[in-house]
Amino acid sequence: MIKFTLNGQETEFTGDEKTSLLHFLREAKGITSVKDGCSGQAACGACLVELDGKPALACSTPLKRAVGKKIVTIEGFPENVRRTLGRAFVAKGAVQCGYCTPGILSRAKILLESNPDPSRVEVVKALRANVCRCTGYVKIIDAILLAAQALRQHQEIAWEKNTGIGYATPKYEGYEKALGINPFIHDMKFEGLLFGALKFSDHPRAMVKSIDVSAAEQLPGVIRVFTAQDIPGQRYQGIHVKDWPMLVAEGEETRCIGDVLAGVVAQSEEIARQALGHIQIDYEVLEPLVEMTAAADSPVNIHPDGNLLKETVICRGDPVDQVLADSAHMVEGVFETPFVEHAFLETESSIAQPDATNGLTVYSQSQGIFKDRQQIASLLNLPEEKVDIVQVSAGGGFGGKEDLTVQHHAALYAMALQRPVKEIGRAVQQECRDRRLISYAV
Ligand code: FES
Ligand code: FES
Repeated sequence: MIKFTLNGQETEFTGDEKTSLLHFLREAKGITSVKDGCSGQAACGACLVELDGKPALACSTPLKRAVGKKIVTIEGFPENVRRTLGRAFVAKGAVQCGYCTPGILSRAKILLESNPDPSRVEVVKALRANVCRCTGYVKIIDAILLAAQALRQHQEIAWEKNTGIGYATPKYEGYEKALGINPFIHDMKFEGLLFGALKFSDHPRAMVKSIDVSAAEQLPGVIRVFTAQDIPGQRYQGIHVKDWPMLVAEGEETRCIGDVLAGVVAQSEEIARQALGHIQIDYEVLEPLVEMTAAADSPVNIHPDGNLLKETVICRGDPVDQVLADSAHMVEGVFETPFVEHAFLETESSIAQPDATNGLTVYSQSQGIFKDRQQIASLLNLPEEKVDIVQVSAGGGFGGKEDLTVQHHAALYAMALQRPVKEIGRAVQQECRDRRLISYAV
């Protein structure tokens, strides 16, 4: 048995001592202010908590390291510290999506306890383990310095609630986001919830000769394994061009390692992920197209209508040939922009729940819930009015959440099983999706 103090309470844990502190806090204790941003890679700082007065990344802290220690999350902050930090972050505009913010507040509290009057440089150094993708760090640093001043001088930070012209309106739900009170989808719990996990392609381009899910289905705790043939409606979806199979079928080629070949639903996420390893896929591995200009010229078509997705011609002013002919000098070059990773911190999750009208409700973190609705209804062969999409705050997006990511899989499972199901993309899906974008031809 492992014993420690959690937010002032004596706490015990019996089980695998390698269980992460993050898992324990979120799943056993329901403390979801501690966020899961990179699932144990110790890369983002969203899970940062206080361990014996020092910062610790809960995702990479096994519970055996907590023996006899004092763990503090935002819920255990002294009320004035909690209030002051939360208000300072709202006052300085340092909360955007809020996914990173509870971890940063924990880091700030630890810093201010040991150094109540930090310099700007000291705040910057303290934040080196915390990533924020939305805000930029200037406002976060400003907020910590404001909180430090307010705490030293025992002042309340102005809490401007007036709205309208002439007033700076506090960010909607900014305070709640700063303190990790507002749930993201990954934080939500439902009675009788099942968990999904996705089997991605092992190769960027391969012919899928067969998919054998029989061994995975035999695993205790597995409810069902879904493949392409379980989709009752239009299997190919997409916002602009419907060229993306929601599940790749036997006899089809994969186009990226983000392509999904099967989905497991189980009683726990751990069982679902374990079952993925029991799915047998026979591939004929093919040469991938990984560079867009080469793809445009390639004799290999990865899409039936060719590799060129779209050509856009912009005409403005005089004809180009005329202008060039009249120019004294001409400079030619190839200009490229870098590929920019969206890298939102939030774990991609969706929960779908069937309703009494033979429809369903889907909780989505997307940037376009009406597009979600159209595609999910089409996938399930349902009228759109049978599909309700609930917009839940997104933990960042930057355009990377316009496409469906996991919502459609959760919807498929929930309708088939008539149970609420949560599909969790995990960080790997982010990488897969981005690689999909690369390996798609232009
Ligand atoms: Fe722990 Fe990212 S560092 S979840
Ligand atoms: Fe920091 Fe969104 S506000 S990641």
